[in-house]
Amino acid sequence: MTDQDNNHSGLTLLVVEDDLALLKALHDILEAEGYQVRTATHGEEALESYREKKPDLILSDISMPVMDGLQLFEAVRRQPGGIAIPFIFLTAHSSGRREDKFHGRSLGADDYITKPISSHELRNVVHARLRRADELMVEQIKIAFKKSLSTFANAIELRDPYTYNHVKRINEYAQAMANELGWDENRREALEFGAILHDIGKLEVFIDILSKKDELTPEEWEVMRRHPEFGAHMIEKIDYLAPVVPMILHHHERWDGSGYPGGLVGEEIPEEARLLAVIDSFDAMTTDRPYRSAMPPEVALEEIKQRAGVQFDPYMVAIFNRIWESGAVPSIIEERKNNRENNIE
Ligand SMILES: [Fe+2]
Repeated sequence: MTDQDNNHSGLTLLVVEDDLALLKALHDILEAEGYQVRTATHGEEALESYREKKPDLILSDISMPVMDGLQLFEAVRRQPGGIAIPFIFLTAHSSGRREDKFHGRSLGADDYITKPISSHELRNVVHARLRRADELMVEQIKIAFKKSLSTFANAIELRDPYTYNHVKRINEYAQAMANELGWDENRREALEFGAILHDIGKLEVFIDILSKKDELTPEEWEVMRRHPEFGAHMIEKIDYLAPVVPMILHHHERWDGSGYPGGLVGEEIPEEARLLAVIDSFDAMTTDRPYRSAMPPEVALEEIKQRAGVQFDPYMVAIFNRIWESGAVPSIIEERKNNRENNIE
């Protein structure tokens, strides 16, 4: 355990116990760990304390006068924010109390410490529960963040009807590629954001350019070709998305250096951007566009292979070919067909 793990200052625990000697012992052990410890001798007093200052964790006896631990647990869960607070029961070690345990468990309490309590167990259980609560919160924030970003990305799709559901498919292809490449979870997650956001800069491109049926004029192309820079600029201030900026900025670079905006050549192009370039083009080829109808996937695959070493990184093309052969690409395409037939898209 590092010193940082032991730094609990700022975290408030609420300890509820009617046995005053035990209450003091619990208080002292936890305070020595660096927690701010508030105490109460029954449920009602605990609720008052809760309303005064919401604790980060509650440790409560079950049998107590005025309001017992189970009633307290139910009352806390009804309080604003109460559902997310880790709640640990202190249970007596006697067969007569077994039903308390089961009742508590069916209510969804997080843990139990059986009396007599060892200070070692107390420290471990409290620490583990707080860490778990932290992990859950980070996870929930990430999920909420991805959902907001997807909604944002869908806004582009609404402006550009020809890329309908493009973001969703790109993400599926990207994850299959990352899987084949053996990338770790952090890298896969960053790639997921890259896939969701790669065309986010199109929000700054006028809608008449995005949905134009005729060929774009050179001036219009000039604006269209700036969407990677617009997109990178939009997210560069979000620290969490820092690894995603190069993916957005360089997803239209070409292996031979003739792409944009940097004209980067070969391995100068970030790996994730080389990956996105392959699947972005494949999806564009296999989707109807204003100026042409969709290519059959087999033809598009041949086209991608032809452009290996010219437009695309040959290694990424080989990986794409592997996920094709494993059946991942055809099944994503098949799913799209089914969705379309069922009007899900
Ligand atoms: Fe793009």
